[in-house]
Amino acid sequence: MISYGRQHIDEDDIQAVVDCLRSSALTQGPMVAKFEQSVAGYVGARFAVAVSSGTAALHLAAIAAGVKLGNAILTSPITFVATSNAALYAGGTPLFADVDAETVNISPAEIERMLAKHPEIKVISPVHFSGLPCNMVAIKQLADNAGAVIVEDAAHALGSRYADGSLVGNCKYSLMTVFSFHPVKSITTGEGGMITTNDEATYRKLLRLRSHGINKEADTYQLPKNAQTNGVPNSWYYEMQELGFHYRITDIQCALGVSQMNKLDAFVSRRCALAKRYDAALAGSKLIRPAQIAGRNHSAHHLYPVRIDFAAAGTTRAVFMADLRRRGVITQVHYIPVTLQPFYQQMGFVNADYPQANAYYAQALSLPLYVDLTDAQHESVIALLLEMLG
Ligand SMILES: Cc1ncc(COP(=O)(O)O)c(C=O)c1O
Repeated sequence: MISYGRQHIDEDDIQAVVDCLRSSALTQGPMVAKFEQSVAGYVGARFAVAVSSGTAALHLAAIAAGVKLGNAILTSPITFVATSNAALYAGGTPLFADVDAETVNISPAEIERMLAKHPEIKVISPVHFSGLPCNMVAIKQLADNAGAVIVEDAAHALGSRYADGSLVGNCKYSLMTVFSFHPVKSITTGEGGMITTNDEATYRKLLRLRSHGINKEADTYQLPKNAQTNGVPNSWYYEMQELGFHYRITDIQCALGVSQMNKLDAFVSRRCALAKRYDAALAGSKLIRPAQIAGRNHSAHHLYPVRIDFAAAGTTRAVFMADLRRRGVITQVHYIPVTLQPFYQQMGFVNADYPQANAYYAQALSLPLYVDLTDAQHESVIALLLEMLG
């Protein structure tokens, strides 16, 4: 079966994990910092904090951004539920701004409309859907004018570049950027996530929140008299200074992450080549088109989302996907608009308020795209699609 996405693991990766297993530290050893330095150095951010998942990263970022009861996080309805759930975890409210029809990314015009109506918006979380960076220049301008903070959801976008060519995650437009290392993402650690930032206070807070709210830095103890006995430091001493979580990632996972980072550029360039081949091969069909056309050289191409006019093709998506699966090709839909989820409907969200998200969802399909997809497999997927769409 050819899947819509999957990881690439080679002997180097396996050896890196084995080496870690033979070492003395399975968690909280040297690999966590090494992985953090590798990602921060790659994207060009001052600091990085690795955590157990992208969802944990979004949760901590929401708290570090100051979200609480009475605040809202504004994001896109075309995302994984984790993006908006982060607002709820932190005690705030999620809000949605519709997407732009041509990019499937959050629309700056819709952000502006929502900011005018909702002064409680404290954080804007643009999602770089499928790896295509959002219009961050416009979004930063809007956030600055409204006094809001930006937390980028770059779960799809490790290796993506903004319009100016710099790497997503450098936080030139945001307070924090969040990545995910789930197996279908640009690189994997099995499960895992990371937050990058250039702000030292935010970095220190994220470190505490990742580990129960505990601080071990002697210069920032709140009760320094408890940290020593007659002038001799109490070596066992630590302070829980706020309510945090256990969101740590293991050294085993980070060993894999460090090894995967060595291949990130090669991964992105293979994904980009496959995306461009799809673009060219599908260009002749009236029934199928890439969901995003901009930024082909700037996206990390986490997914290859297309829009298919299923009605004009005389079928439905359910039948089309089942036929593909019968013939060995697994596709997926990214995403059911979050506002269509029963939980969000019960909160009062009305799906019709997001017409572009709905129009996209009606036609959306993610085609196979991953590093190990061979040219021959890719050709066969393209031939099958064109045959099925007449
Ligand atoms: C846009 C987006 N945000 C957040 C997440 C959550 O990441 P994780 O699965 O690592 O918790 C995902 C994961 O699929 C995602 O696609």
